Order: sequence, then structure tokens, then C-alpha cells
Amino acid sequence: MADILLSEEERLLRNSVREFAERELVPRAGELDAHPQFPWENMRALAGLGLTGLTIDPKYGGSGGTTKALVVAIEEIARACAATSVTYIAHLSLAMQTLHRFATEEQKARLLPSMVRVERVGAFCLTEPGGGSDAASLQTTATWRDGGYVLNGTKTFITNATVADVLVVFATHDRTKRAKGISCFLVERGARGLITTPLHGKMGMRASDTGTVHFEEVWVPEGNRLGPEGQGFKEAMLILDASRIAIAAQCVGIAQSAFEVALSYVQQRQAFGQRLADFQHTQFTLAEMATRLEASRLLTWQAAMLYDAGQPFIKEASMAKWMASETAVWCADRAVQFHGGYGYFSPAAAERLYRDARVLTIYEGTSEIQRLIIARHLLGR
Ligand code: CAA
Repeated sequence: MADILLSEEERLLRNSVREFAERELVPRAGELDAHPQFPWENMRALAGLGLTGLTIDPKYGGSGGTTKALVVAIEEIARACAATSVTYIAHLSLAMQTLHRFATEEQKARLLPSMVRVERVGAFCLTEPGGGSDAASLQTTATWRDGGYVLNGTKTFITNATVADVLVVFATHDRTKRAKGISCFLVERGARGLITTPLHGKMGMRASDTGTVHFEEVWVPEGNRLGPEGQGFKEAMLILDASRIAIAAQCVGIAQSAFEVALSYVQQRQAFGQRLADFQHTQFTLAEMATRLEASRLLTWQAAMLYDAGQPFIKEASMAKWMASETAVWCADRAVQFHGGYGYFSPAAAERLYRDARVLTIYEGTSEIQRLIIARHLLGR
């Protein structure tokens, strides 16, 4: 990998997270997939290392650090356990970052330190049963009443839904205004009328918690509106823009794992009197996997570095997310193909990676949405 583009500090971080992930996350990954449960142990271990505070101001208990450092850490976490990595990203890059950027000082001081310690978990509630890609069409309503807002509606496919204590929620005051009618709200566990239910039957990332969030006349005080009224859609986009860099890093980690699994297998497995690695077709596929992987990593680091430098990065974040997610799905598919029948059964790592990878081109903006965003930038819209 292109170590030359990492600082000494980033290399040390990468090495220590890799060593930790090999020791703590890898041994639990198969079991968490076979018998899914929220990865509390992993999340608390990440907190113990200060990783759940990355990019968060030390004033709120965070460890600070750059987005580049974050992506370096995420790649290693995802390489070891994909389900833990999505739990981590939804908590930190979506929920905590929304508070970090848009909550009041009081809310940040009250909630962020306990979220850094994973005593409270966060969720980002944007997607609805009627619309994922068309986020501005959301139907959950926010109606002004008694000095606050009453929320009614349903969110779905929400990561961390049933364990979250802190929910960032997007709701509309007026659907005819689409994006301009949306505000962002903070809802805490225990709010009357807040009901969360798990979604079962997920293809992969099984230990991550995915659920539905219902709001039945949930009243929140005006102070729980994060940012100005009508700015919620822009806030969601700003958070997603940055979080897509984190997801790209997750994709790189999963692709790396698939590549390693494939590389190891083709050097052991014999067919027609030679190792799979001795066939030219195998060599060409390995070369393509490694090249796509490295291109994805470089795009991810570029997006992170642009973000850290305060330069325009949205197009590059979408390029990284699109390329890295497609790469992860492709590499996992190739890893299964090398394994033949063995790759179709658990506990082959390739089988789990294939299922885990499949969602990557769907969540946090599908590959189609990423290309739309890239094209809009190219055309100056
Ligand atoms: N950053 C900042 N502002 C933005 C923006 C961005 N990236 N994109 C749009 N906006 C602003 C626009 O400037 C516009 O404001 P003005 O009118 O003041 O200029 C406003 O938002 C509306 O923009 P558009 O008209 O472009 O909006 P649109 O309806 O065409 O939608 C979209 C744009 C890019 C398709 C958007 O809906 C989108 O990103 N959809 C995908 C949603 C998504 O990623 N969901 C993921 C859910 S979270 C998740 O998956 C987590 C998980 O489980 C792990």
C-alpha cells in the first residue's frame, strides 16, 4: 500500500489499530456473524483505544485528529470486522458528527463525552420506507406545538436503531417545500412515543443493529432542533458528504480482506497439477484486485486530505465511495469464485465478506447517487 502518503503518526496509528483488530476483532467476527448480536465488546474496546473520539474535539472528550487518521483507522477495523465498522461509522461519523457540528454547547457537553465512551450510542434517522435515494421527499412530519415540535412518521434501515440513546432525526414542516421544509432534531431514548424495532433477515453485516424507528406524537422542545428551521436537508448532506469518505475507507478495508483471503487460497489450492496461483487467469485477477484496491485507497485518502485542508471535496468523496464500494463487491465476488464450492458455504471468510460487501453500493448513497453527484459537479450544477 502507498505508505509514502502516510505520515509517521498515521503509520503508527495504522499499525496499532491493525494489531488491536487482529487480536480483538478478527477472532470474534465469524461468531458475531453466525450468532448476531450488537458488538458491545468491540465498540467498548474501540472506545478504550480512543478511536470513538477520533475527529471529536477534546473539549467534549474526543481524541481530535484528522479525517485522514480516521480513514486509516476505519480501514483496519473494517478489514477485521465489517459489522463493527458500520456500527462505528453510524455512531461517530453520522450521529456524533451531526451533534458536533450543529448541537448547542449544552447538548454537546452533555452528550458527546458519554458517546465517546460508548455509554450512549447514536443513530442517524434519514431514510424512510417510501424513499432512500430521494431523501428530500421524506414524510416524517414536525409540527409546532407547545413551544416545541411534535414528530410523527417512520424511519427504516436505521443503523443502531434499537440500541441508540441519541437519535438525529430529519423531519419536514411542509412537504411541498421538499429540501427547504426539512429540519434536524435531537431525540433521546425515553421520549414518549418513540418506538424502535429490529429488522431481521439481513444478508450481511449481521451483528450491526438495523431497525425501524417510529415516532408517534413524539414531542421535542424547540432547543432540540439542530440548526435553523428548514436547514435540515443541507445539514444531512454536509454530514453525508464527509461520512462517505468514512464509508469509502470501510469499503477499502473489506476489499483488502477479500484480496488477502483470495491471495492466500490461490497459493494453497491445487487443480490440474498446479496451484491456482500458477494459472495466468488467476494472476491477472489478482493484479486487477490489487490495482482496483489501491486506486480506491488513494481516492479515499485524497478525499480525506481535501476535507482536512478545507478544500472542495464532495465530488472526490463520491468518487471514492463509488469506486471503493464497487471494488469491495467485486473483490469479494472474485474471492468466492476462487474458492469454488467452498466459497459458497460458511465458515469460509469469502462467503461472509461477499454478504457483508453487498450493501456497500447501496447505503450512504447508492452507486447511482454517487455518479449523479459527480456528474452534477462536472457539469457545474
Ligand atoms: N452538500 C451541501 N448541500 C447540498 C448538497 C451537498 N452535498 N447536495 C444538495 N445540497 C443542497 C442544495 O444546494 C440545495 O440547496 P439550495 O436550494 O439552497 O441550493 C438543497 O440541498 C437541495 O438540493 P438538490 O435539489 O440537489 O436535492 P435533490 O433532491 O436533487 O437530492 C441528492 C440530492 C444528492 C440525490 C440527495 O437526496 C442524496 O444524497 N440522496 C442520497 C441519500 C443518502 O445518501 N442516504 C443515506 C442514508 S444514511 C445511511 O445509509 C447510513 C447507514 O445505514 C450506514
